Amino acid sequence: MGPVSGSQPNGDPYHGPVKGVNRGGGRAVPRAPMKAPAGRFSGTVEPMVEHRRPPASPSDPPAGAPLFDPVDPAQASAFDEGSWWSSRFATLLLDRIPMRKGLRVLDLGCGDGTTAVPAAQLGAEVLGVDVAANLVAAGNARAQALGLANIRFQEGDATDLNALDDESVDLVVSIFGAMFAPKPFDVASEMVRVTKPGGRIVMGNWIPNDPTLVAQILKISASYSPPPPEGFVSPMTWGMEDEVVERFGAAGIPKERISFQRNTYTFHYPGSPAELVADFRTYYGPTMNAFAAAEANGRADELQAELEQLFEAQNTSEDATSIPATFLRVTVQR
Ligand SMILES: C[S@@+](CC[C@H](N)C(=O)[O-])C[C@H]1O[C@@H](n2cnc3c(N)ncnc32)[C@H](O)[C@@H]1O
Repeated sequence: MGPVSGSQPNGDPYHGPVKGVNRGGGRAVPRAPMKAPAGRFSGTVEPMVEHRRPPASPSDPPAGAPLFDPVDPAQASAFDEGSWWSSRFATLLLDRIPMRKGLRVLDLGCGDGTTAVPAAQLGAEVLGVDVAANLVAAGNARAQALGLANIRFQEGDATDLNALDDESVDLVVSIFGAMFAPKPFDVASEMVRVTKPGGRIVMGNWIPNDPTLVAQILKISASYSPPPPEGFVSPMTWGMEDEVVERFGAAGIPKERISFQRNTYTFHYPGSPAELVADFRTYYGPTMNAFAAAEANGRADELQAELEQLFEAQNTSEDATSIPATFLRVTVQR
């Protein structure tokens, strides 16, 4: 099966086209320092740093255009330590990847280091690459504040890692990162190119149509968003095994060297499910886009209610919020 164009596996709101907002799936722009609401976040958030690009326009061509557009300071993220997205996730993942001192690790689409920082703390030599200059700067500031000399962050595009030599890293990790880059065949080819023979590529990708939280948020959000532009390749296709096999196959990796596991990340939140929806509405790119579109159509209350119903139904905690979300872990043996 070739790359999906036009229609989406479950539809999704990643494409925008709400002007000036993030079209990606998560961490956007670290907000200016603010006091966290008591009992909800454990600390302050890194200051906002410069923006990289002007806001995307709805007329941007879909092909080749970054799908993740971290340009709007209003799109602050709740993906911070102590919140519902944290290095707990990275630790969970890295626990399953043998990490040794000196291992050369590339974290692709690293954000400000959710996975890269814990990997460095485990002794690896880490390079974090992200298309967003502000997140690269935030990552370097984190590394400096933590006194970590074995990690650095630099700007780069997963579709063209021209600053990296062939066969130069032992492990590429990309946790809900490279899936947001356009041109997935180029992304697979670049990840393979920079990995040493005997090395590995590990991706965490959300799964289209999965019944758990994130896929359902995206599905609901999509139904309130305008249709994607012609030629748009959904990031969610990275959660489809056949697509992944075809992309890495084109990069020279036989099917037998690709394995898939379904893993679960549980969002823990100290407030109610409705409060967590409010956080997603404020901080998470796809829901922000969907709410912007719904507000324009007078449907914001409907969207809010539908999401609250989803979060309530999936909550497994009696007195707070715990909601599992399944993702596809892809491991490629180079
Ligand atoms: C959902 S966030 C995940 C960040 C981080 N991996 C984490 O787990 O917190 C997606 C990240 O992918 C980055 N990204 C999107 N398109 C990219 C591209 N073409 N090349 C490199 N990074 C990209 C975004 O800037 C963003 O930091």
